[in-house]
Amino acid sequence: MGFVRIGKQEELPAGSVVEIVLDGQPYAICNAGGQFYALDGVCPHSGGPLGEGALHDFMLVCPWHAWEFDCRSGANDFDPDVKVATFPVKVEEGEILIDVTRADAGAA
Ligand code: FES
Repeated sequence: MGFVRIGKQEELPAGSVVEIVLDGQPYAICNAGGQFYALDGVCPHSGGPLGEGALHDFMLVCPWHAWEFDCRSGANDFDPDVKVATFPVKVEEGEILIDVTRADAGAA
């Protein structure tokens, strides 16, 4: 499938996170200081919707029980072995694109 467009850059201001759904799978898209990150949208703790959480600097906070994940690596702040998958993101002509076929592949 490769990169797919998920929205406009201007719709996701710095410090915000949004949930998008592709093929029934939710993803959390973060803008941390102008850099975009994409993570699996399902919290490994108890299935909370990470895309409905809050972003504090680079930490994505689950809205259910406040577990935190680094949006750059997907690693939990308390136990780095607990991770959510991350996906490559790029911006082209003001559009945000993610590649959900390459989990944990790093930056685009
Ligand atoms: S479901 Fe995310 S912290 Fe509990």
